[in-house]
Amino acid sequence: MGTPHIVLVRGDITDQQADAIVNAANSSLLGGGGVDGAIHRRGGPEILEACRALRAAHLGKGLPTGQAVATPAGRLHADHVIHTVGPVFTREEDRSALLASCYRESLRVADGLGARTVAFPAVSAGVYGWPLDDAARIAIDTVRAADTSVAEARFVLFDEEAYAAFAAHLG
Ligand code: AR6
Repeated sequence: MGTPHIVLVRGDITDQQADAIVNAANSSLLGGGGVDGAIHRRGGPEILEACRALRAAHLGKGLPTGQAVATPAGRLHADHVIHTVGPVFTREEDRSALLASCYRESLRVADGLGARTVAFPAVSAGVYGWPLDDAARIAIDTVRAADTSVAEARFVLFDEEAYAAFAAHLG
């Protein structure tokens, strides 16, 4: 156990080769836009079938915000997809702890799977509206503080702005 090496990559997370790829999902686990849409499109129906099975088995009300679950990765170049649900950003309430929990719980699930390399998107920084700088700070600080067997945490940033925000916080 220890702290993962953090790597920043600019690109599409569905192109990544990793033991596990993290999905910025919603509670339904039944798909959506952004990273979620891309993962289901590229990964194929096996992922959605596994999500439906999880819902039927023990997630009847959906996956709560801040938690994470794993499914197979279908046709992606990965063994697993770890689905986590980020909080929707709001100025009325500080939901940072829930965003940090997404990264911590994803690493915990990755440990359970024996995954050594994990690719993360910038959870909540798209449709869910989290300001990029703050999303990057929470992501990097949380992964840096983790005690995990994951050797590499790779943040896959879709555009230059997101990459720059993460690079600034990595120092
Ligand atoms: N690879 C890497 N990053 C990506 C990709 C990609 N293929 N596509 C988008 N991003 P978002 P959220 C970036 O919206 O904010 C879905 O509908 C994007 O630019 O995917 O957690 C779900 O079903 C942004 O920086 O996730 C939920 O309903 C970051 O990934 C909701 O959106 C996250 O953007 C979740 O919203």
